Amino acid sequence: MLKLKDTKTRDAFRYGYLLNKMYPYIKLVLGRSLLLFALAIPLGLLDGVVAFSLRPYMDFVVNGNEYQTFELWGYTFKLQAFFIKLIPVAIVLFALVQGVLKYICNYLSDWTGNKMSNALKVDLFKKLTSMDTKFYDINSSGLVLSRFFSDPDTASKNLINTLKSFILAVFEFVALVFVLLFNSWKLALIGIGVMGIAITPVIFIKKKIKNVSNATMVVSGDMTTNFNETFAGNKIITAYNLQQSQNRKFENQIHEQFDLTMSLTKRVGWMSPIMYFVCSIGIAIVMNYGNSLILSGEMTAGSFASFVTSLLLLYKPTKSLGLTLTNLQSTFVSIARVFELFDLMPEIKNKPNAKKLDCVGSGIEFSHVWFEYEEEQPVLKNFSLQVAANETIALVGNSGGGKSTVVSLLPRFYDITSGSVKINGEDIRNLDIVSLRNNISFVFQDNYLFTGSIKENILMGKPDATEEELAETIKLSHLDEFVGTLPDGINTIVGERGASLSGGQRQRVAIARALIKNAPIVILDEATSALDNESEAIVQKALDNLMRNKTVFVIAHRLSTIHNADRIAVLNEGELVELGTHDELISKPDGRYKYLYEMQFSLGGV
Ligand SMILES: Nc1ncnc2c1ncn2[C@@H]1O[C@H](COP(=O)(O)OP(=O)(O)OP(=O)(O)O)[C@@H](O)[C@H]1O
Ligand SMILES: [Mg+2]
Repeated sequence: MLKLKDTKTRDAFRYGYLLNKMYPYIKLVLGRSLLLFALAIPLGLLDGVVAFSLRPYMDFVVNGNEYQTFELWGYTFKLQAFFIKLIPVAIVLFALVQGVLKYICNYLSDWTGNKMSNALKVDLFKKLTSMDTKFYDINSSGLVLSRFFSDPDTASKNLINTLKSFILAVFEFVALVFVLLFNSWKLALIGIGVMGIAITPVIFIKKKIKNVSNATMVVSGDMTTNFNETFAGNKIITAYNLQQSQNRKFENQIHEQFDLTMSLTKRVGWMSPIMYFVCSIGIAIVMNYGNSLILSGEMTAGSFASFVTSLLLLYKPTKSLGLTLTNLQSTFVSIARVFELFDLMPEIKNKPNAKKLDCVGSGIEFSHVWFEYEEEQPVLKNFSLQVAANETIALVGNSGGGKSTVVSLLPRFYDITSGSVKINGEDIRNLDIVSLRNNISFVFQDNYLFTGSIKENILMGKPDATEEELAETIKLSHLDEFVGTLPDGINTIVGERGASLSGGQRQRVAIARALIKNAPIVILDEATSALDNESEAIVQKALDNLMRNKTVFVIAHRLSTIHNADRIAVLNEGELVELGTHDELISKPDGRYKYLYEMQFSLGGV
């Protein structure tokens, strides 16, 4: 599976391919984008019109002619002085039209850019929620955030804006070049030739742009992760006085980002001054040569003024063409990155003819299961275990021995390397994943509560539960007393990650969530470990209710909590070493369970 950090954006220069991929999103805003691009044309042309009208105006002012004549494609036009006098008024009008057009264009580009970006984000979010546990294991939150949130923005808003600027610049360029050619083709060739030389370096820096853009993304991802960790781990940071090192980490990242930005500026920043310099040479040549053209009568003063104005105005679109080309390249890098995400495929998905799981009648069977998180490092080694329906099985063993791993295989957080896991005799890989997960309630050690009320958190187990079911669940999970003391009762907001509740209260909300789901398989992974004896007794009562008539896997370090299990499976370093009832295992002279049990009691554990 792709580590987001190791992005290569191999497709960043395959423009046709990327545009094709973007097409469904472009299609959403096609009408308005085309209107936008169409409006960019007159907007671009307007500068040329102003420069163009300078010629008859200047000639009139300088020569005082009643009539101005000029030829265009073999036709002779006469302009009356009256109309020429109107030119200043026309310029103001043009500026007004230009202003209105600019406003409409900006509105349209914001509208289309945001629409497109939102559509991309919605689809990317669906992609994100469809990803496997493994994806979340190997990628950091910051990187996920920047890849799934900033890239779509750059990909769509920049695409629209750069295309708009590109069209604008092209037409501005074309109009001004037309005015240049119209006034003097000889001078024009010099001017355009020089401009052409000035923008060529743009082509050579696209690879640098890609690399810097990818590296910047990784650093900004690291920075966001740093923010998230500062938030989630703030108590540890405070307790261990880690503020300094956390600050230093952030400063280093900021410096790294600075260096990256500056490395691009170093490569790109010289382009604009060089262009300006080259252009100034062009203008110098033109002025010199233009002088002789006027003296020899080949060019009028008005025509020269119009020419020089166009040439000066031409600098803007030329520069912005250069800029749009570099921007377009970073846009394509972002588009390539976005579609790299769409190409991510969850490894765990339904088979074509996946069966629905509707009961757990004949139990659960792990048979010769091998599993590894990292290649060549097996965590479960030939693990076999049969669990009857409605049996409660306890998993005990050394820390890191693989207990949590065993139970995380059941809802297919991960798929096994070899062997099989069967429910009702059916390999879970042949079962419909949604129906499989509907049959399992999971209570973790560190239960995640979502921002919202206690009620909303419980109803996640069964969104369509009735008020009676809810009330019953709250009673069974021994939450009623606590909820009764809250001013807003069950509608109390628990804060991000359930921060406003105690560990035991959080656990009981999680148990209520599992209870209301009423799934036939229940998994309790250290569900009571955070509690003292008294609260554990309360939570245990809640758990007893949850476990009634269910097939239960219970993991607990405190062996006293698993006394009541039907059987106990002892895992050591990924292998099943003992299996039996408490009494059977405790009577084995050199048994692992006996050893663990006696250790706990001799240490005073309960
Ligand atoms: N997401 C993961 N990625 C890589 N390795 C993992 C992952 N989760 C667990 N491991 C490794 O797998 C092994 C088994 O871990 P597991 O969580 O199943 O142990 P456990 O028996 O539940 O331990 P504990 O009693 O401490 O909870 C450990 O060596 C652990 O480092
Ligand atoms: Mg564990």
